[in-house]
Amino acid sequence: MTEPEDMLTEPTTNLEKVVPEAHDFLPLLGTDHVELIVGNAKQSAYYYMAAWGFQPLAFKGLETGSKDRVSYVLRQDKITLVLTTPLKEGGELNAHLDKHGDGVKSVALWVPDARKSFEETTKRGAEAEFAPEVRSDADGEVVLSAIKTYGDTVHVFVERENYNGVFLPGYRAWNPDFKPAPVGLKYIDHMVGNVGWGEMNTWCKFYAEVMGFAQLVSFDDKDISTDYTALMSKVMSNGNGRIKFPINEPAEGKKKSQIEEYIDFYQGAGVQHIAVATDDIVRTVTALKERGVEFLYVPDTYYDDILDRVGEIEEDLEPLRKLGILIDRDDEGYLLQLFTKPVVDRPTMFFEIIQRKGAKSFGKGNFKALFEAIEREQESRGTL
Ligand code: FE2
Repeated sequence: MTEPEDMLTEPTTNLEKVVPEAHDFLPLLGTDHVELIVGNAKQSAYYYMAAWGFQPLAFKGLETGSKDRVSYVLRQDKITLVLTTPLKEGGELNAHLDKHGDGVKSVALWVPDARKSFEETTKRGAEAEFAPEVRSDADGEVVLSAIKTYGDTVHVFVERENYNGVFLPGYRAWNPDFKPAPVGLKYIDHMVGNVGWGEMNTWCKFYAEVMGFAQLVSFDDKDISTDYTALMSKVMSNGNGRIKFPINEPAEGKKKSQIEEYIDFYQGAGVQHIAVATDDIVRTVTALKERGVEFLYVPDTYYDDILDRVGEIEEDLEPLRKLGILIDRDDEGYLLQLFTKPVVDRPTMFFEIIQRKGAKSFGKGNFKALFEAIEREQESRGTL
């Protein structure tokens, strides 16, 4: 699989195909940025800098002539977050906040041709969010277009070959003195969408037909169920493997599925978690914990027979046990992963920290242990 390491610097022609069934007709070069609509962008920016080690990059707001919204742009290695808050009542942004709380509005994708991306996807049935538009300033121009996906989530196509500015036209560089050290986050490994009952296949079909993705794996409720909760999941990937979108739907269990809880509070489909990659998960998770990020608690018994289950690993088990890091193995290697509690007020969006040691899967072997951990949290919220 293509290492996403040089995702933003590789020449656009280097698009090795790693998922043979997929058709990269757009093609997608990588995740450009993720935009969250939040209640207080200034304070969210502080949280993602102080707790997560993101670095300040760009800003737009009243000082730059943006009268209706303020956006802070943060970056850590290949991951770019945009935090946006409306400055006035009414309008789309407030409707998004009112309905969903803080959450992801846009998963923006880096493309060589945003006009073509819009044409090809809408021709195949995508609903338009906005038609191609050119935005320019002294640093050059970008072309942006966007289509709708599940819920109120959109994909913005970003063509930035002719732009040399810090982020996008309309933003100015933001360079405050406050720059807490990064925690070693490298790139977005995958982003998971939660959709409603019976809608998983609809959206997998959307990514296959509209975006040219292919299915990597699927899990049904027999793989992913505990005594109480259940879900089904399929992982869709583009051809070069840089964009992976697992899609979850709730399944019947004795009590309320965590996916259903998400959908109740997000009031519809949306981005459930953003998985961010590190090449030193012990260091990254240690730093995140010291800075106040809260993770799901896995019972100590998880580690009792772990090496029988996953075989030899390079890491010492003790620090993994101490931090509650989960381990899983597939045919190609193993992976280390850990999930945060929701990072917003509603029990909706969270993050996954992942370190791949050859494995290309998503931690299926951990689902049961993990869901039991989530259920303990649900129980404490009275939503199980
Ligand atoms: Fe994940």
